Amino acid sequence: MIQPTATIVSAALRQSARPLATVAARVACTLSTTSAAGRITAAPARSYSSRPPVEAVASYPPSPLKKKVTIQALQSVARKGDKITMITAHDYPTSLWAERAGAETILVGDSLAMVALGYDSTVSITLDEMLHHCRAVARGSKHAFLIADLPFGTYEACAKDAIRAAQRMVKEGKMEAVKIEGGKDMAETARAIVRSGIPVLGHIGLTPQRLAMLGGFRVQGKSAASAKVLVEDALALQDAGCFAVVLEAVPAPVAEYITRQLRIPTIGIGAGAGCSGQVLVQQDMLGIFDRFVPKFCKQYANMSETAVEALANYCREVKAGKFPGVEHTYPMPAEELAKFEAFTAANDRAPARAPAADRTNAE
Ligand code: KIV
Repeated sequence: MIQPTATIVSAALRQSARPLATVAARVACTLSTTSAAGRITAAPARSYSSRPPVEAVASYPPSPLKKKVTIQALQSVARKGDKITMITAHDYPTSLWAERAGAETILVGDSLAMVALGYDSTVSITLDEMLHHCRAVARGSKHAFLIADLPFGTYEACAKDAIRAAQRMVKEGKMEAVKIEGGKDMAETARAIVRSGIPVLGHIGLTPQRLAMLGGFRVQGKSAASAKVLVEDALALQDAGCFAVVLEAVPAPVAEYITRQLRIPTIGIGAGAGCSGQVLVQQDMLGIFDRFVPKFCKQYANMSETAVEALANYCREVKAGKFPGVEHTYPMPAEELAKFEAFTAANDRAPARAPAADRTNAE
């Protein structure tokens, strides 16, 4: 059966934003015919390459943001009283998603140690592992401002270590800024990195790299005395030149007060609505990581459930012989198929297979 060319052209146009010449060329090789033996020798209009066209990758993703985000732009968002949006990303697809969602900043947080690599805490991840993920995230983002965590053990000992680690994040990881955990005790380190020309995002409150010191994932600043220490920490980081500070797992009134005291923005995670912006870990908010969900995380989807359902469906369809369908196969010109069939008829030495019902599950 020959499909009408107009149908193929419109299908091809719907599938592709490529120039007409390319579409026409594709139409020429997508006329669908059914051989005398009832076998489809050409599939309906779709790309036969196992790779997408280069221009489709290059123009991807469309971001709602018009311009590349800078720290000045972020600070101006906060000054106007608008909220800053930050989402973590750990690889190329999650970076594309954050970018397409319009997140102004993407954080390659070391939470990836737990939610993407399966470590028990964030302390084990190395700088090289972080860099590998940073590069993938950078490839997926054009507009968002890119920040990465300096992992535990790369910045605490001395300013030289910290500057070298931060430089690697910029040169090799293609990041624009680094985040370090700690307050007053890390202010001089933050100052040294900033002086070397690399923007620093502070992080106080629950600082997972110090899990052992904190005695677990606990809310910080619950007593008036510890809340006062957090205020001093935030001011010290601002004074050191940090462009913003993350407040993690801090009571809302404390976070709101700190936000009012600072000239630089605060980014809250479990710190209430009074911060200048919010960040969530993508795997938590999308329900990808389901070992536990922090109290402060709102789950916007349950992708783990959706993924397992889809994968189980695939397994069922493979067992039942329903996948792949004809539309998932590559066509062959009819005359070549005829020649090949003549060859196989003369040379087929395959032993006859038992009927499907006789085969075991393990086969
Ligand atoms: O590692 C991370 O993802 C973070 C955020 C939770 C702020 O530090």
